[in-house]
Amino acid sequence: RQIRLTPSAIRARKGGTPVACLTAYTTPMAKLVDASCDLILVGDSVGMVLHGLASTIGVTMEMMILHGKAVARGVSHSCLVVDLPFGSYEESPEQAFRNAARLMAETECQAVKLEGGQHMAETVSYLVRRGIPVMGHVGLTPQSVNALGGYKVQGRGEDGDRVAADAAALADAGAFAVVLEKLPESLGARITRDIAVPTIGIGAGVLCDGQVLVVDDMLGMFSDFRPKFVKRFAEQGREASAAIAFYAEEVRSRRFPAPEHSFADEGNL
Ligand code: KIV
Ligand code: NA
Repeated sequence: RQIRLTPSAIRARKGGTPVACLTAYTTPMAKLVDASCDLILVGDSVGMVLHGLASTIGVTMEMMILHGKAVARGVSHSCLVVDLPFGSYEESPEQAFRNAARLMAETECQAVKLEGGQHMAETVSYLVRRGIPVMGHVGLTPQSVNALGGYKVQGRGEDGDRVAADAAALADAGAFAVVLEKLPESLGARITRDIAVPTIGIGAGVLCDGQVLVVDDMLGMFSDFRPKFVKRFAEQGREASAAIAFYAEEVRSRRFPAPEHSFADEGNL
């Protein structure tokens, strides 16, 4: 594929082969993800994973634009989505449009993602009718961590109806897909059955129309948090720390650099 998958193509995957999604924040990681996945998300998780913030609340438009541009340079066939950061869209549909349009114009992403259910439906429809494809995000919405009282499973028991209504409101407002974060598996299945657009799960069970993870989490590169829904497909953090310790030891013992890493005064240009 030479051209990127479109948001409409992702939408058309409803009920079909699951949509494989990962985050990316840099050009080299975007190239790796682009080779195998269908959708790449420049998540505001970048603030925690790469910038050491304690939550996603301090992430700015400038950070999303910088990382969005870097990722765009590495994406040729996946659908590229960039997160609207906290404070950039909640005030009004107009504010959301202004910032979403800026993200699209500056990063060349194909869609934006925002957090929130029924109360964001009007904004989603405002953006979609003006040419900005939107991905929704309900259940555990990390930008609301202070209001939710932590990173807890959402939608257990009676609360399931609220989360289901949130997802349905976004689908009805024109979102092309909805992320379901940290829900009971049965609720993930129920929402997937009930809404017309793909559900992309992260800790929402195996029956969603697709899955997403933070790439640094699944590679074992980011260990500040270890949510139960993260499967470690690699242990890159462990490998990197062993390699760095080995390097430091070789420098101190003068085993590195060896002759093959050194230059003679002549020849061997
Ligand atoms: O910011 C992020 O990485 C996300 C996904 C994990 C859904 O929003
Ligand atoms: Na996010």
